[in-house]
Amino acid sequence: MSNRGLERFPRLFEAFTVGSHVLKNRLVALAHGTGMVHDGLVTDEDIAYWSELAASDVGLMIQGGITVHAGATLRHRNRIEGYSAAAIAGLCRRCAVAKAHGAVVLGQLTHIGRESTGGEQDQSAVAPSPVRSPRDLFAPHELDQMEIADLVAGFAQTAANLQQAGYDGTEVHGAHGYLVAQFLSPATNRRTDEYGGDAERRLRFLREIIEAFRGRCGRSFLLSLRLSADEETADGLTLEDSVAIARAMAAEGAVDLLNVTLGVRGTYVKDASTPKGIAARAAKRLRETSGMPVIVGQRITRPELAEQLLADGCADLIGLARALIADRDWIRKARAGDATAIRPCLGVNQDCRCTAAHVERRI
Ligand SMILES: Cc1cc2nc3c(=O)[nH]c(=O)nc-3n(C[C@H](O)[C@H](O)[C@H](O)COP(=O)(O)O)c2cc1C
Repeated sequence: MSNRGLERFPRLFEAFTVGSHVLKNRLVALAHGTGMVHDGLVTDEDIAYWSELAASDVGLMIQGGITVHAGATLRHRNRIEGYSAAAIAGLCRRCAVAKAHGAVVLGQLTHIGRESTGGEQDQSAVAPSPVRSPRDLFAPHELDQMEIADLVAGFAQTAANLQQAGYDGTEVHGAHGYLVAQFLSPATNRRTDEYGGDAERRLRFLREIIEAFRGRCGRSFLLSLRLSADEETADGLTLEDSVAIARAMAAEGAVDLLNVTLGVRGTYVKDASTPKGIAARAAKRLRETSGMPVIVGQRITRPELAEQLLADGCADLIGLARALIADRDWIRKARAGDATAIRPCLGVNQDCRCTAAHVERRI
């Protein structure tokens, strides 16, 4: 295939160094689960999915849907139970098929906290405070400090399992109104102990996770932090709150990448009514104020826009989820200078969300 697109999209196909890794281009497969996971373990179908996605030629792949604690295990068990030693062999295969295509590979560490709604789990949903999700009938159980310490250990154990499985690093899911974000956000954290009360104390849970992670995995294992720069919800995190969080992370030097998104559960997979590149402004502000390398995603459907966002300094890396589901050859077509042949994501959230409903029933 020709490389005519390199002239048209020079920035997209430039290498980028993060930690000790060189990404072959600026394109990132954003985290998503496949649902093709049974009993908390990967299956052959799941492996085939990631292999095909990696063949699309992304520089960085973030593999989603990895649960960090037994207490967050879902009834249908279609997310990888990454905290368990039993998951390591499958994770090894999942990672290897992506690396075979030259991608740098991260696994996303997820605990959805109070968003485990409608009886998805056998245990009660947990959260920093008993503030009911608008998507659920019941308030979550308020975590005590021993339970918090156990969760921190779960994040670190899961990261260590991913490291053992050959991953290049992890992403802490601190976005979308899930557990880490529930601690960061004034809308969901009403605690008065060391874990709440002001912005600094709301950061404590995340800091403890990062410290435990670095203690188990060392400095060279990559760490990306996914943040909802604006939760777009009453009393939720605003862009200025997120600037403060990103600055604190930059000052502490423990995070390698900031992955910027907007919204909470129910609003973060932006549909066709959302302007393209909706998170660009927030990403640019976080990049400029923190100096950290930034990934931006959400409704980036075409290479022309992706190239422009890099040219405008909005981000260092471009995140794609549905664009690559809609057309696995997106990157190859862009590189070949055949961008008009790309089948763009329409933002209808039908097939990808339903395929994925076998996937993740309510994201
Ligand atoms: C089926 C599906 C599953 C997803 N699962 C996750 C996930 O596990 N973790 C996460 O951070 N985001 C998840 N997302 C959100 C994507 O990472 C991405 O932020 C979102 O789809 C917007 O990007 P896009 O417009 O390129 O699709 C998921 C999205 C889809 C469509």
